[in-house]
Amino acid sequence: SRRAFLRAGAALGAMAAIAPSRTGRAHTPEPFVPTRTLTLTSGETELHLLGPDKPATRVYAYDGQPLRLLRMPRGTRLEATYVNGLDEGSSLHFHGIRMPNEYDGVPPLTQPLVGPGERFVHRLPLDDPGTYFFHPHCDETGQSGRGLVGTLIVEDERDPPFDLDEVLCLKDWRLDDDGSFLELTEPSGASKAGTFGQTRRVNGVPQLELTAPAGGDVRLRILNVDASRVMGIGVEGAKAWLIAVDGHALDPILLDDLPDGIWRMGPAQRIDVHLRMPTDGAPVRVGDYAAADIYYFASLAASGTPKAHPGEGPLALPRAELPFPDLDSAEFHSFTLQQATDQAVKQLGLPPDDPLSKALVASFCVGATTYWSIGQVSWATGNRLGLPPPLAVMNEGRSYRIQIKNETRFSHPMHLHGHAFAVLSSSKGRLPQHFADTVLVQPNEAVEIGFVAAQGDWVFHCHILEHMETGMMGWFRVI
Ligand code: C2O
Ligand code: CU
Repeated sequence: SRRAFLRAGAALGAMAAIAPSRTGRAHTPEPFVPTRTLTLTSGETELHLLGPDKPATRVYAYDGQPLRLLRMPRGTRLEATYVNGLDEGSSLHFHGIRMPNEYDGVPPLTQPLVGPGERFVHRLPLDDPGTYFFHPHCDETGQSGRGLVGTLIVEDERDPPFDLDEVLCLKDWRLDDDGSFLELTEPSGASKAGTFGQTRRVNGVPQLELTAPAGGDVRLRILNVDASRVMGIGVEGAKAWLIAVDGHALDPILLDDLPDGIWRMGPAQRIDVHLRMPTDGAPVRVGDYAAADIYYFASLAASGTPKAHPGEGPLALPRAELPFPDLDSAEFHSFTLQQATDQAVKQLGLPPDDPLSKALVASFCVGATTYWSIGQVSWATGNRLGLPPPLAVMNEGRSYRIQIKNETRFSHPMHLHGHAFAVLSSSKGRLPQHFADTVLVQPNEAVEIGFVAAQGDWVFHCHILEHMETGMMGWFRVI
């Protein structure tokens, strides 16, 4: 059960291919008989984000529990009733879960908006184990920005035994000194890398201090549920492996073998990391190394007498059982991510230094709400009722290869609903082949993904919340 870890170089080049699977069906066809029912009610509650002695913040939460955590076994048939306890329209979306389209929670595409006091019933087959999350799918900047996010762990009884299994939910908050929220979006952020929170927190606190047996095996489930920030996760003081991405197991990769020794992840992306506690009492730290100013969000202290025979290699999770596209017959599509301004300038055919191009850029960056496009189509939140045509019409059960080209100056975590896609390649050669529901596409990078299409209308968008709300969103129709 312990696989030898991959060596540097080999790790990224000859990354083990994903095993093809027998079926292209993305959801269970059998009648739905719930094995677990629950209600999730959105509302407001108080949370001491600035510290115990500082003023509390009125955050949004499910069931009054900030960053609500749900754990349930693989195979659960979950009937989740969303009750909107807010004074504004909302909806509930289970991110990364493969499900029938009607329960996807995306107004106006798959259901109407859930009004204040109204409810919506979701029926979800939880067949894919892993680390997921859930959030509203309307006014994400305002509602998720105020904290309306929860974690869903689908447990797998076949997993190797870990001595500690921890959820680390990373989110920055945009707070004033009195604990109230600052503006959650500003044009200067929405049209660039995003509007950042300055109070960095994990599970709502500055840092987690964990204890694990010396020589023991720790599983960290790290979620980036921030609105804007791209993080670079790394570990100091212990051997650590990436064992799952967006919930899905992959052949373990030693973090040190990754470029810069970190895994870059944008909003909505998750990883599971296995780290082995040292036996010499050395301190272990887990941090976001993306910025010069490192944010250490967890520290681990070893406890007890060191294990007599600590393991050497990683504890691999059972291989993800997901449909893999047939690459030979797959239909190819390419979509370019653009700053809507650049796109408009290109369409005019003027050089970028032409005064008219400059005026156009200026006008877009001030009052407009459309800054971004996918395949030259912008779909901004304010215009959700004006649904654009689908980016592509696909056939259920057929394989697709999608190239995502980033011509902007910023990274975009691109998310496709209703599928676990295979990340096939990066033009920068920086990504191992793996399954995911969200993939980070860096400036001047082209990333190719592949999947077997599941029936329904599925949105495809950047998960930097302001980007999706200012145009970087489209949808696929699968018939
Ligand atoms: Cu996390 Cu369209 O969603
Ligand atoms: Cu983006």
